[in-house]
Amino acid sequence: MEKYIINGGHKLSGELSIQGAKNSVLPILAATVISGKTSVISNIPKLRDVDIMIKILSSLGAGVTLDDDVIYVDSSTINKIEVPEELVREMRSSIIIMGAMLARFGEVKIAFPGGCEIGPRPIDLHLKSLRQMGAVIEEAHGFLECKTTGLKGCEIQLDYPSVGATENIMLAAVTAEGVTTIRNAAREPEIVDLQYYLNEAGARIVGAGTSIITIEGVKELRDCKHRIIPDRIVAGTYMAAAAITKGEIIIKDIITDHLLSIIAKLREAGVIVYANGNALKVIGPNKLYALEMLQTLPYPGFPTDMQAQIMALLTIANGTSIVNETVFENRFKHAEELTRMGANIKTFGKVAVIKGVKELTGAKVAAKDLRGGAALVLAGLVAQGSTEIENIYHINRGYENMVENLRSLGADIKIIR
Ligand code: UD1
Repeated sequence: MEKYIINGGHKLSGELSIQGAKNSVLPILAATVISGKTSVISNIPKLRDVDIMIKILSSLGAGVTLDDDVIYVDSSTINKIEVPEELVREMRSSIIIMGAMLARFGEVKIAFPGGCEIGPRPIDLHLKSLRQMGAVIEEAHGFLECKTTGLKGCEIQLDYPSVGATENIMLAAVTAEGVTTIRNAAREPEIVDLQYYLNEAGARIVGAGTSIITIEGVKELRDCKHRIIPDRIVAGTYMAAAAITKGEIIIKDIITDHLLSIIAKLREAGVIVYANGNALKVIGPNKLYALEMLQTLPYPGFPTDMQAQIMALLTIANGTSIVNETVFENRFKHAEELTRMGANIKTFGKVAVIKGVKELTGAKVAAKDLRGGAALVLAGLVAQGSTEIENIYHINRGYENMVENLRSLGADIKIIR
């Protein structure tokens, strides 16, 4: 089992370019199924989750070629409608393939994605919406068997702006008969990226980025090319790394607008952030301030995917901070691990109270999920002595070359195999 060993206490400095967004790549790769043509997608990050989505496409019969950071998908050869169970179990967000397969073939069989490390993560909103569009979905023996004789556009009012449900509906609606309107849609930048890809392929979608998305069904899609947007969570994580080590780094190739809620909270904690076009300079202060309230919310609120990393920062801030995780249940597993490193954190359901301590101390800890793992890396960068992080496969799901990147900025981190 691979581990990270980090010797803390090195200020980060230098420049870093940010990888393509994992949460854009996954739905867009799923979307390539719909056209039955060729899609060329660039700025693909090398990640475990992306590998799983490639395996899913290949297992369905698509031709997939990866050349550096460009993926060529020829979906004309897809000849299976069953998604292998082990791949669905490995990555819950593979459920996004449902909408695409229904749009293309009117049929799909997929294992019911189980619970996961950050709470139960139900898919009721996906199923309810697809049923509303005319899919017949049977749930039996741990599988979902979905069929339709033709999806029909309709008005869908989401009870919650779920990212995955919004994407699944968009995919299903692309070639449905008539117009689909999604109200209370998720507004994440990755949804806008999905709209760009689909429209480049000939879809007719407007409204992504707002709460109302309208999709006018088209007969077919065509070949297309698309470049994935930069990963705002990866950018935010490296910003937090600069902040926690009192370092000074420049983050390049980002879309600043996507980072505004993260920038605002970092500034509130005393971090100096200068924005210049598609780059940011981040300077960590001598002393971080506690945050009176950090509440995670759907976009444009503060992202749940940055909650753990900010918590790492708050462990050594001046004063007591409160974090309210409103998006997912059970997303505080990193708190216990941070406590092993000397942090003072108490959790009460969806609320965590973090009393800043003078310093963290290196310890043996384990990543429990992707972002929680990243938070442990941040803590390790500033902790006194050596930190050993186990289960780093979680971190590899979302961060490309994390060790190389941090080393290039002056961190003392290595992988032990
Ligand atoms: C996506 C992101 C994930 C991010 C999350 C919230 C991808 C691949 N993953 O996950 O990194 O943390 O958005 O920004 O893009 N819910 C239901 N029923 C449903 C669907 C969701 O109750 O049918 C609940 C979930 O349990 C959760 C909340 O809604 O509590 C948000 O989930 P959702 O927005 O769907 O997140 P994902 O698409 O799974």
